[in-house]
Amino acid sequence: MIKNSLDIRNDFPILRQKVHGKPLVYLDNAASSQKPAVVIEAVKNYYETINANVHRGNHLLSQLATEATENARDAVKSFINAAEREEVIFTKGTTDSINLVAASITKFVSEKDNIVISHTEHHANIVPWQMLCERTGAKLRVIPLNEMGEWDVEKGLALIDEHTAVLALGHVSNALGTINPIEQFIKKARAHEAAVLLDGAQSAAHMKVDVQNLDCDFFCFSGHKLCAPTGIGILYGKRTWLEKLPPYQGGGEMIHTVTFEKTTYADIPFKFEAGTPNMAGMIGMGAAIEYLQNIGMNKVAQLEDALLQEATSRLLQIDGLKIYGNAKEKAAVISFLVEGVHPYDLGTLLDKFGVAVRTGHHCTQPIMDFFNIPGTVRASFAFYNSSDDIEAFITALNKSLNMLR
Ligand code: ALA
Repeated sequence: MIKNSLDIRNDFPILRQKVHGKPLVYLDNAASSQKPAVVIEAVKNYYETINANVHRGNHLLSQLATEATENARDAVKSFINAAEREEVIFTKGTTDSINLVAASITKFVSEKDNIVISHTEHHANIVPWQMLCERTGAKLRVIPLNEMGEWDVEKGLALIDEHTAVLALGHVSNALGTINPIEQFIKKARAHEAAVLLDGAQSAAHMKVDVQNLDCDFFCFSGHKLCAPTGIGILYGKRTWLEKLPPYQGGGEMIHTVTFEKTTYADIPFKFEAGTPNMAGMIGMGAAIEYLQNIGMNKVAQLEDALLQEATSRLLQIDGLKIYGNAKEKAAVISFLVEGVHPYDLGTLLDKFGVAVRTGHHCTQPIMDFFNIPGTVRASFAFYNSSDDIEAFITALNKSLNMLR
């Protein structure tokens, strides 16, 4: 029985509601997490008390908004243990962060180079690199996958060589839950001076992340999967890289001086933050990080691991159910199919019982092609879920299956 979750659950107003007349059992956390009252309150408080544009006015509200958003940058710095606050760039989300790097790094990539990704990447960590290859003539190399949902490490490592310009890897698979063995890949990339980008969309909210320990050049994640608002994300970048990359977008805030003859750019982080930023999102991100740090990321990981173990063993008791993604190291994401049942039908019925799961390819079509399946049903857990949620999920699943087969 997973204890302590009830108090935490009460922090999330949305979880008190009913869906189709049934208590909400929210198991779609890999897609987007719910927001605790402190985050909602921080955003409301921002709009009610200090809403103004940042870095632009010397009036009080602008100063207070600037202070609050820059405090949020400090909170992110400490959350991921960046060496410097200037290494934290606010973006719209993980996709935006990856696109920023893939676009800005273009001039450092040539047709002699290769870009190494893996078979388990989210589309957001495939397509921007394919676009970079189209622009430069570089070749895309893909770390292969095995039936367990793990990378073939030996074959994967062999893909990294002196022509590898970028190694861009997902830290945790959103479709299979695998916690990937990134460390050895980073080590090899370092030996060849390749830039290393990690897609941390599925890891930042679920485990302690230390970008200096990981020794990555870039680490990307989204606020909305981290109990923070939508439309805000982070690109962490090592100073050396951020200083040599050209800006991604031009506009206000990212400049030092502008004349018709020549523009000079602002220092980092502002060089990469053109236009009015998402102030409310930044403040919400800061509040979410404070909330998570009060619980403790190790505790978050521990609670979620217990949920993963309990839900996995309950699911495996169901006749004809197969889990896709059985890696030794897993986050609390369970993708499955039941023989003779279409995932979409199952997801639709589960919803009628108040259980929210995701069905489909989860923006990872190459994984579905590998397993030769159209998609899966995916239950993904967060620290605010409980054994009661698992019980309600299994009951709803059995009832749904009785109706479908
Ligand atoms: N990337 C999100 C997911 O895996 C949307 O569901």
